[in-house]
Amino acid sequence: MSKVIEVKDLCKTYVVNKKQNNVLRNVNFSIDEGEMVAIMGPSGSGKSTLLYTVSGMDRMTAGSVSFCGKELSDLSDNEMADVRLDDMGFIFQQMYMMKNLSILDNILLPAVKSGRRHESMGETEKRGRALMKKLGIEETADNDINEVSGGQLQRACICRSMINSPKVIFADEPTGALNRTASDEVMCEMVKLNSEGTTVMLVTHDAKVAAKCSRVLYIVDGNIKGEYKLGKYNNADELRDRERKLNNWLMEMGW
Ligand SMILES: Nc1ncnc2c1ncn2[C@@H]1O[C@H](COP(=O)(O)OP(=O)(O)OP(=O)(O)O)[C@@H](O)[C@H]1O
Ligand SMILES: [Mg+2]
Repeated sequence: MSKVIEVKDLCKTYVVNKKQNNVLRNVNFSIDEGEMVAIMGPSGSGKSTLLYTVSGMDRMTAGSVSFCGKELSDLSDNEMADVRLDDMGFIFQQMYMMKNLSILDNILLPAVKSGRRHESMGETEKRGRALMKKLGIEETADNDINEVSGGQLQRACICRSMINSPKVIFADEPTGALNRTASDEVMCEMVKLNSEGTTVMLVTHDAKVAAKCSRVLYIVDGNIKGEYKLGKYNNADELRDRERKLNNWLMEMGW
């Protein structure tokens, strides 16, 4: 298995009002191609900060992050932006979409910005519509973003994150704003994309979400306190058992 992400002694310090806040303290871990890894831990422990520094949305203070063999701290802002656009997909709890664009146009936006595929607009649109069909939201293509449900909007965000066929999807509480049914639907799609080869790193507070991942890292005070290997999630029959094992482990971690 090749490593897509390798993090060594990663530190992130924020300075607010001249006060240093060492949010990430020498974090070490790696993610293999095809893994689906959940980051869990108490509020304020540094989960989002970890996701943002590993994905180059935010600069690290010290340490190293290798993404598909590229050392992120060696990249210029423009090079970093290209890596994010071409090789990474992003999904957030708050669904950031452009209000003045239709759902389909929002999904196509990263492809238009990247412009690297040398494909016509018609071809790009075809890919966008195919993704929407795959996620069961093809009928919302021409809707405004306020004309769809939260679950549909989050599935549209997944389509947008996939439009440039990224190597890794980074998701910060992708189901955090959804009810149970919509959350299950969204996770079903994430698991599917993962089983088709996309590596996933996601932050979640929800053990039901984490139980579908292959590995869980538990972070406390900016450090990884433990990891739990669940192995690939294959079918719903395993879910209850996985949840039970994970919950037991989370209790040991102080969850
Ligand atoms: N941009 C920022 N500037 C300054 N401090 C920040 C910034 N972002 C996060 N922090 C601080 O870093 C710490 C960790 O925040 P982070 O958002 O990573 O936590 P989290 O584990 O994702 O929490 P939650 O579960 O509540 O989302 C907090 O003390 C927070 O105040
Ligand atoms: Mg967070």
